[in-house]
Order: sequence, then C-alpha cells, then structure tokens
Amino acid sequence: MLRSSCPAFVCLTVLLPLSRAQSLSLSPSPDRSGAAVSDNLDPSFAGFGIEPSNLFSFTGWNEPNEFSIQLLQNLADYSGSPPHIRIGGNTQDYMIYDADYEDFGWKKNSNSTAQGVIAADSMIIGPNYLAALDRFPKDTFITYGLNLAYEGDDYLDHIVTHSNAVVKNLQNTRLYSFEIGNEPDLYLENGMRAAPWDGKTFTTQFMERADTVYQKVLKPAGMAPTFFEPPATASTIGTTFEIAMLNSDGILDRMNGEYYVGWWNQHDYFYFIGVTPTPITLDDLMDMDQTNTQFAYWEKQVKIALDTGVPYVLREMSSIGPIGMHQVSDTFGAALWTLNFFLYTATLNISAVHMHMTDNSNASAWQPINVYGKEPFVRPQYYAHAAVAQIIGNGNGTTQIGALDVGGAGGDYTGRIRAYSAYANSALQAVILINSKQANASESNKASFTFNVNMGSANANKKIYISYLTADGADSLTGTSWNGMSFSDEDGKASVVDESIYQYSLDGNGAFSIAVRDSEAVVANIDWQLGSNKVIKVDGTTTSGSRRKNSGSPSVTGAKAAVWTAVLVSALTLATSLGAW
Ligand SMILES: *[C@@H]1O[C@H](CO)[C@@H](O)[C@H](O)[C@H]1NC(C)=O
Ligand SMILES: *[C@@H]1O[C@H](CO)[C@@H](O)[C@H](O)[C@H]1NC(C)=O
Ligand SMILES: *[C@@H]1O[C@H](CO)[C@@H](O)[C@H](O)[C@H]1NC(C)=O
Ligand SMILES: *[C@@H]1O[C@H](CO)[C@@H](O)[C@H](O)[C@H]1NC(C)=O
Ligand SMILES: *[C@@H]1O[C@H](CO)[C@@H](O)[C@H](O)[C@H]1NC(C)=O
Repeated sequence: MLRSSCPAFVCLTVLLPLSRAQSLSLSPSPDRSGAAVSDNLDPSFAGFGIEPSNLFSFTGWNEPNEFSIQLLQNLADYSGSPPHIRIGGNTQDYMIYDADYEDFGWKKNSNSTAQGVIAADSMIIGPNYLAALDRFPKDTFITYGLNLAYEGDDYLDHIVTHSNAVVKNLQNTRLYSFEIGNEPDLYLENGMRAAPWDGKTFTTQFMERADTVYQKVLKPAGMAPTFFEPPATASTIGTTFEIAMLNSDGILDRMNGEYYVGWWNQHDYFYFIGVTPTPITLDDLMDMDQTNTQFAYWEKQVKIALDTGVPYVLREMSSIGPIGMHQVSDTFGAALWTLNFFLYTATLNISAVHMHMTDNSNASAWQPINVYGKEPFVRPQYYAHAAVAQIIGNGNGTTQIGALDVGGAGGDYTGRIRAYSAYANSALQAVILINSKQANASESNKASFTFNVNMGSANANKKIYISYLTADGADSLTGTSWNGMSFSDEDGKASVVDESIYQYSLDGNGAFSIAVRDSEAVVANIDWQLGSNKVIKVDGTTTSGSRRKNSGSPSVTGAKAAVWTAVLVSALTLATSLGAW
C-alpha cells in the first residue's frame, strides 16, 4: 500500500480528522524517573516456540529452509539479537535421543514400551535434529525442552545422553536453558503419569533430573547450575502446579548445594479451541480488554513469580491454540493483537514471550513449507514481531516500555485503544499508539481515533517520525506493511513498499496530534525514523543467563559487544525525501 509523500503541514491536515472523531490526550513523562516502566527489554524478548515434531519444517531437512532463517535474521538485525527460540511442546515428551540415528528427520520408535496416550518414547531423533536447529542465526538463544514424561528404568541415562548431545552439538546457536517436561500438570490426562500425581511429586522428579543433568553434563562442560526451567501450571483449575505451590514444595531450594531453577516457565493461549467454552471472532481477538480479562490469572502468577526473585518467561503463547483459526489468527487484526500483547507483557516485566509455531498452524508468524496446498508465506503477525524488534533495537538494549492511561477512550472505542511509551537511555524516545477497532478491507471510509500526545517541553520543536503497522483492513490476510516494509514470501527479505517519510515537528510544548485509522497502529519516534540508525548488538553477558537474585554466575558467557548494522530500511529514502522537500 503506497502513501504519497507530502510536506509535514499538508500531511498533518490530512491526518487530522475532518469530522468529530473521538480522541484522547496523553502526557507520557519525558523522563523515566517520572514513569512506571518495565525493566530493560532483552533484544531477544519477542521470541518463538517451535513444536519439536515440526522442527524440520522450519529448519529444512537436508537443505536449510533459507526462508525461515532469513525471517529470523531480519528480526536479529532489527533488535540487536535473534529472537529467543524455545524448542518444546507436547512432542518433547515423546522423544528419545539416539546418537546412531542419522537422518534429518525423526522416526517412529517401533520398539516403544513407554506409557502415555502417545507413548513417552514414541519418537526417535538423532544428531541431525540438533544440526538442523543449529542453522538458526548465530547466537540465537535456545531454550531446549527435555523429556520428563519418560520413566523407564533407564530414564536418567536417556536424559543425560540427550542433554549432553544438545550441549555438544549446538555451536552456532547458544543453549540458554533446559525446560524439563511440557505442561506436567496435564500428565494425568495424557496418560504420562498415574495418580497420585501432583506438583510435589513433580518437584521431586524435576529436581532429580536437573541435578543429574548438572552433575553429569553441565558441570563437566564448565556450565552454571542455574540452568533449568520448571513448567508451572498451564491450566487454571484444580492445579497443584501454581508457582506459589511449587515454591513451597521446594523447587527453588538448593539441591546438593546448587540452585537449579533459573526461570519460572509458563504457557498460555489467548484462546484454545476445544477448551475455551465460548466461541471466538476476530472482533473478540481485537478487543484488547479481553486480553486483560483472559490474562488476569496469569498476571497474578507473574507477580508471585517475580516476588520470588526469579525471572518469569512465557515460553508458549499464541492468539489461538492449538493451531490457530483461519480468518482470525492469520489476519492483520491478529498482528495488532500481537503487537499489543508483546508491549503489555513487557510492562509486566515478563522476560521473554514465545509465540508457538507448528507448520500447519494458522497462528504461526509464517508458514515454512507447503501446507493446505499453499506455498510458504509470511503472515501479518510477523509484522508485529518486526515492529517490536525495531522498537527494542531503537534503544540499543536500554528500551523500556510503559503503559499509558487509555481509560478516556470510551464508547465504540472501549477496549480498542492502547498507548505505550518507549524509553531509551532513561528518556522518552517513542510512543506506540494502537487502534484495534475492527474495520474490514471492504469498508471505504474508515474512521479514525485521534491521539493528542504531549511529549513534554524537553522535546519542544523536535522532529517526530511516524512508522505505520497497516494493511487494507482488519480482515486482510495479505498486504500488511510495517514501517514502509514488506517481507517476501519467496525469500523472507524486506523490501520498501512505501518510500514516504512521515516526519513532523512537535510544537513549542512538545505536543503533536495524530489520527490513527481504525485497525492500524503507529510508532512515533523522536529525532529519527525507526530502523534508520545502527543497532548495537547487545553483549550476551549483559542479557543472557538467569537474573535470579540468588544464583551464582551467569549461565552463558557472551561474545564481545559489536556494532550490528540494522537493515537500513529507509536511510536512503530519508536522505532523498528530505532533499526533495
Ligand atoms: C518492572 O521492573 C522495573 C525495573 O526493575 C520496576 O521499576 C517496575 O516497577 C517493574 N514493574 C512491574 C509491574 O513489576
Ligand atoms: C527392536 O528391538 C529388537 C529386540 O530388542 C531389536 O532386535 C530391534 O533391532 C529393535 N528395533 C529397532 C528399530 O530399534
Ligand atoms: C488454515 O488456513 C488455510 C488458508 O490459508 C486453510 O485452507 C486451512 O483450512 C486452515 N486450517 C485450519 C486448521 O484452520
Ligand atoms: C544507538 O546506537 C546508534 C549507533 O551508535 C546511535 O546512532 C543511536 O543514537 C543509538 N540510540 C540510542 C537510543 O541511544
Ligand atoms: C469484517 O470481517 C469479519 C470477518 O473477519 C466479519 O465477521 C465481519 O462481519 C466483517 N464486518 C463488517 C462490518 O463487514
């Protein structure tokens, strides 16, 4: 979608609504000290999860899947570090590692003996599973899901063999942590355990495995013990796996002198087909108040987790599980949901969020192989990842997010307006303004909502640059653009589809107004256009490893900090359009 370039004063009159549209005034604190904001966001914050049985669809089999790798590399270039990948899900609990199995792929274990509705030893993987995973961009953090379900006599041998292979074989990517077991609170239902099974028993079994893996694998490799993630409850009803319960069961305690738990790991979905009792529409997904309602329980878990001094990560998340919903999770409206969700969870100090992917999920950010008779393609949701990556990279590792009060947006806009501040180097750097009122592509005269933003007198008369996350409408499946860029369904590379530079001046008080169309979001950044600066690649030592308050050394030591040249989407067009003006 092309917008015509125009001098600021002309654009502003176009941007300001002609009729009496609804509006909201916002005054983010120009200084971080006056604002409630998040911790520094890690550049790998907006991550992905990949279902283990589907790994090769994303990495490629004998030949690398360059499309997937490029899509990950784009985000690394924008934020300063590749998105954090969790390789985990139900199928991690079916897998046995066999060093002699050399295919790029997994095979069915014809000698399966283990328990489970799907047996805990039903899949065999080998070294090329890890070689494939290691194709992801250099220094990609990997949280690797180990099998807890398997409980044959040789269960400790199996977990040692498997974890040892992971430690030895991931060379290009960086092993960040081990998750042990996927959603053990559901083990009675999927036949992985017989009663009695509860959080206390889980704690004992988790600790025994963590201790064994540390003593036999990590310690000999010179790695830190605080390297494990217990998956806390994935359900809300009748669970003994809540964070407070696992804590009182002693999961954070030392064992053989070591703290093993480095992160509280939890999974959630906005909506899960077959579990959530009410139906879902795109309009529901785009009602951002519903995200708060749905997440209210998890917000409490986050707070309890952070009060223990151990960071909290959302290692499995998605709009609609298990595999999305066509015309809801694969629309542009879902991209707005995704953008809001990342920013919202950032304000809660969740350290990482992983959007879960399978090759057949209509909620995956891209389709990596031919499925449903369709060639690989990029879904609108990917553009929200690109936006978040550029918002984070814009602060060179110092980006912090605050939520602005949108209580004044009522009537038709209730639940449809969100606004966030982004700080860099402790000063206000940008605001992110979301209007998620549903307007479909077919509506010709879409309404808009006006944000009157005062960035503070410290920013008086400065330039401000607008980046759009847009598409023809909420229901659009294609044609999304972010910051003037589109991502190719062929090779995943970015190209410029809108060369305009939306540059305006803040007034003498540091204020500006902008009308944001229904079903659109913008980032307004002070002094330069997002993506037009270099992004400093953040040193692994400062961002990786558990920030658990009582842990010892960091679990990963980083490479030297380096300047990472972002994809300069618009540096060139910036120069030319300014000249033309
Ligand atoms: C998030 O972390 C920052 C920095 O430590 C802190 O100031 C803020 O209060 C925290 N917010 C929440 C919701 O925990
Ligand atoms: C299955 O077990 C039998 C007997 O232990 C063995 O001969 C055979 O090679 C095994 N098959 C596989 C695929 O491992
Ligand atoms: C996913 O979307 C495709 C269209 O891209 C559709 O053909 C397919 O039926 C959808 N799958 C599911 C499970 O909804
Ligand atoms: C990030 O680093 C680049 C390159 O040094 C610099 O141009 C830019 O101003 C920095 N951004 C912030 C917010 O410090
Ligand atoms: C917009 O599209 C959705 C499908 O995503 C449809 O259910 C809804 O009725 C449409 N709304 C309008 C106003 O056309």
